[in-house]
Amino acid sequence: MATGSYKPKQFDLSGLTGISDQTLEMHFKLYEGYVTNTNLLTDKISEMFKSGQGTPADFPAYSELTRRLGFEYNGMVLHEYYFGNMKRGGGSGDPDKASGFHKAAEASCGGYDTWKADFMSVGKMRGVGWAVCYQDPATGQLSNHWITLHEINNIAGFTPVLVMDVWEHAFLLDYKPAERPKYIEAFFSNIDWDAVEARLNAAKATRPIGG
Ligand SMILES: [Fe+2]
Repeated sequence: MATGSYKPKQFDLSGLTGISDQTLEMHFKLYEGYVTNTNLLTDKISEMFKSGQGTPADFPAYSELTRRLGFEYNGMVLHEYYFGNMKRGGGSGDPDKASGFHKAAEASCGGYDTWKADFMSVGKMRGVGWAVCYQDPATGQLSNHWITLHEINNIAGFTPVLVMDVWEHAFLLDYKPAERPKYIEAFFSNIDWDAVEARLNAAKATRPIGG
């Protein structure tokens, strides 16, 4: 069985455009909570299983902990992707036209601008969650998805390439709830496109489909 041994990663993101240090400090603490809870739940489930409590008679408790594990685990992982795809002075807000990401967006969506409009629209959807641009390692295609909470709608095997947190805690100290579009604009001005590029084509296709 796995043991909970994750440690919070450190991100040096002070001085971003439009996302305050105060927001980031609060957000890092929240992220650390996901790491702590991922470890706690992993250990708890492991103990239950080893002590014979992972049996049908104990399924309600065992199942609930296991369901929550997906929430906490993905809360941890998605925050690492999110913080990892921003940097101070991220650039113009758009990737270089010669970059692999720009080309992949064109090939997948008919144009980078179309991809961007779609990604931003996903980010403006009502509810708390995430906008994630994934790459299908089997085809190289990019597609944008809405993740409810942290764990619902992730596509198995797809690689998160660009991840944007649109829970209100990501921007509430800087913008009003109705001003989420302003936060999304700020997010784009901080994207570390080199980090995005490094994720592109990083996974090998293992799903046996054509094309
Ligand atoms: Fe968050």
